[in-house]
Amino acid sequence: MNALARHRYHRAAPVVLVLLLLAIIAGVAAAVSTASSADAATTATADDVTQGQKLFAANCASCHGLDAQGTTGVAPSLVGVGAAAVDFQVGTGRMPMQASGPQAIAKRPQFTQDQINQLAAYVASLGAGPAIPTAEQVDPALGDPAKGMELFRTNCAMCHGSIGGGGALTQGKYAPNLWETTPTHIFEAMLTGPQSMPVFNNANIDPEGKRDIIAYLKAQDQGSPGGLRLGSIGPVAEGMWGWLVALGLIIASTVWIGARSS
Ligand code: HEC
Ligand code: HEC
Repeated sequence: MNALARHRYHRAAPVVLVLLLLAIIAGVAAAVSTASSADAATTATADDVTQGQKLFAANCASCHGLDAQGTTGVAPSLVGVGAAAVDFQVGTGRMPMQASGPQAIAKRPQFTQDQINQLAAYVASLGAGPAIPTAEQVDPALGDPAKGMELFRTNCAMCHGSIGGGGALTQGKYAPNLWETTPTHIFEAMLTGPQSMPVFNNANIDPEGKRDIIAYLKAQDQGSPGGLRLGSIGPVAEGMWGWLVALGLIIASTVWIGARSS
């Protein structure tokens, strides 16, 4: 104890402390990122369908109707929307919807992945629709981020921002930030087009293209190598900052140096 206390006023003590703190932060961050969920597509059984029907009757039928046929003016029919739409809507916490507003908002999911799979199996049994993608279809490591960037810029950037930071739309709606979204949910969003987002079916962007987009978005997820993200609005706005702040500093220091020497 005494030996340790004696080093308190050592010149290197602050440096050692900072390094220690950084190591702790890095350790915590690494632990958190490896704990993130791994999702895989599962095959539905008849039992899943019955369980899903029960969950549906208790939680969704009040709006969507007992047979998911929809209620005019309240909620749309779910016949033929497919397992992917259910996995997306319930997995991101948008459904069951609670407050009415311009847009069903994402919340903490209210069901476990098993229950979501059962609900999805039930809705899929009502009519053919897009299935939940397999783990391989959405694996960012298998995609090409450069190709994904091109696809994203032409199809998604006008709403979600050039690197997926999100943006406001008309009538109080907004396109959300996409960095925290799981690869499976990104794929499903394209496949099912939630609310004001258009559908990108496989003729529009093929499954490999979707995976490339996921790879591109996951590459943006790894922090900003340049430091501050500046709102991620895009190269023009960010360039503007560079010009104003950096150029402003250069001019200010030139003036200062000039004033000192004269
Ligand atoms: C309070 C009413 C309400 C409840 C409860 C509710 N929903 Fe919905 N749901 C809606 C509305 C309204 C929409 C349409 C949203 C929109 O497009 O603006 C919708 C849309 C959906 C969609 C998207 C359909 C499509 O065309 O892609 C799915 C899937 C869905 N709901 C599933 C569920 C499931 C599963 C539950 C139960 C866990 C549930 N909903 C509970 C109101 C509700
Ligand atoms: C016309 C504007 C528009 C375009 C174009 C568009 N989106 Fe969206 N997107 C939206 C809106 C609005 C929402 C929110 C819908 C909701 O809350 O139900 C959304 C939601 C999403 C989500 C769900 C995010 C989350 O965390 O819950 C993903 C993922 C997504 N979009 C990906 C894409 C991709 C990839 C493309 C291009 C292939 C694209 N979007 C093109 C408007 C758009």
